[in-house]
Amino acid sequence: MGPGGLPLHRSSDREFPESGLDPAAGHPLPSAPHFFDADDHVPRRAPGEPPIGRMTHDDSLMDKLVSLCKRRGYVFQSSEIYGGTGSVWDYGPLGVELKRNVKDAWWNAMVRARDDIEGLDAAILMHPRVWEASGHVEGFTDPLIECRNCHRRFRADQEDVQEGQCPSCGKRGTFTEPRQFNLMFKTFMGPVEDEAATVYLRPETAQGIFVNFQNVLTTSRQRIPFGIAQIGKAFRNEITPGNFIFRTREFEQMEMQFFVEPGTDEEWMEHWKEQRMAWVRSLGIRAEKLRFHEHGPDELAHYAKSAFDIEYELPFGWQEFEGIHNRTDFDLRRHQEYSGKKLEYVDPVDRDKRYIPYVIETSAGADRTALIVLADAYREDEVEGERRVVLSLHPKLAPIKLAVFPLVKKDGLPELAARLHGDLRERGIPSFYDDSGSIGKRYRRQDEAGTPFCATIDGQTNEDGTVTIRDRDTLAQERVAIEGVVEWVVTRVV
Ligand code: GAP
Repeated sequence: MGPGGLPLHRSSDREFPESGLDPAAGHPLPSAPHFFDADDHVPRRAPGEPPIGRMTHDDSLMDKLVSLCKRRGYVFQSSEIYGGTGSVWDYGPLGVELKRNVKDAWWNAMVRARDDIEGLDAAILMHPRVWEASGHVEGFTDPLIECRNCHRRFRADQEDVQEGQCPSCGKRGTFTEPRQFNLMFKTFMGPVEDEAATVYLRPETAQGIFVNFQNVLTTSRQRIPFGIAQIGKAFRNEITPGNFIFRTREFEQMEMQFFVEPGTDEEWMEHWKEQRMAWVRSLGIRAEKLRFHEHGPDELAHYAKSAFDIEYELPFGWQEFEGIHNRTDFDLRRHQEYSGKKLEYVDPVDRDKRYIPYVIETSAGADRTALIVLADAYREDEVEGERRVVLSLHPKLAPIKLAVFPLVKKDGLPELAARLHGDLRERGIPSFYDDSGSIGKRYRRQDEAGTPFCATIDGQTNEDGTVTIRDRDTLAQERVAIEGVVEWVVTRVV
């Protein structure tokens, strides 16, 4: 996808078959129920079915990650008890915390830590003219083909349909001619369901920022250069969603538009490339798994001067999870034209200096960022001869920061552990109390959940008031005074 969400270099990514309804097809997908394994809910290909889409580089890692997410309550399939909804996912108790931590880290870095960026929370439903001005009504399309034999629908530019063979039923020469399919979800505003009442679920959050440019400028008293940031849901009726939470029909974006004087845009582009990569690294993502991809001339949107994706090497190849785009003055100019309202910036010092600002956009997916955080953190190793699955999440992203275990359910240890758990909660530190099973089992559960530290209250606690804190990654153990545990954790998880 290029700036503005207009389809530019959409890759085929149907590694995992969908279950449930496919809105593009408008009917339940054939064999939908068996796409999910009843035991562990790892999406699988139907038995005997040919691979759908490009072969993955490492299907098994993705399967394991999806299985772990289900098992530990990170991500569930939407409406699972009804067989699931096509490529829509729900975040469970741990997943919602992880994603919230990703969004908080972004908001802190982009809004709270800077004087030159203001926050915004624009509505999902906007005036339909917005999407005419932005070019989405006309151009936010993918080429769609249908197999006349099995009625499955595909994107015509998908690699695995290029040879003319249906990846679903295997028949050749059964595809219809491509037609352009608009990816925006339509609905109706008010009680009348006709063309005049049509509104769209926004396919990107950016337009809410453009149409509020003057509002924010005048109320915040910012001067150019400055930015507006927001986090919110976006919707795209993707023809080929897939790869778990990588490409979905409902997702969240974290977007920032930085308004600059024309002529300074290239400098700001460099600034934002650096800043955004540094932020991704601050989440603990391995450097060797990250790279920039510069859009070539054939990938660039007609209004984009330049664009860079930040890509991560997922098990199914290098994939974009954030784009940094020089959108020039395209959007503000179009909104000025379509709304009839002046969207110029007047320099407060030299009032003869007026211009429509250029925009450097940073556009990240919250779900994709959560996915790369999970994929990067997934490890398997061996501890004391036992295989261990561990999520080495950065402590600031981990849903639970410290798990508290009383070694035994007697001698006052549960009471001490419960008090520590309560103290942590009071300080807003997510903590988990667990007194069931062996200590080894309790460690394993927390390792899979990504909890960076576990504190065990044992016999020695009664003697000298210390607890053992064990580090998830190094397995190192240290004795810490129980009274100092809250501070010990606070300094390590922010
Ligand atoms: N405003 C610019 C824009 O929307 P984009 O490249 O289309 O650009 C930006 O989208 C980011 O939004 C992507 O890098 C990705 O992280 C996320 N995104 C886009 N489509 C998505 C989808 N179908 N599912 C999940 N995330 C998506």
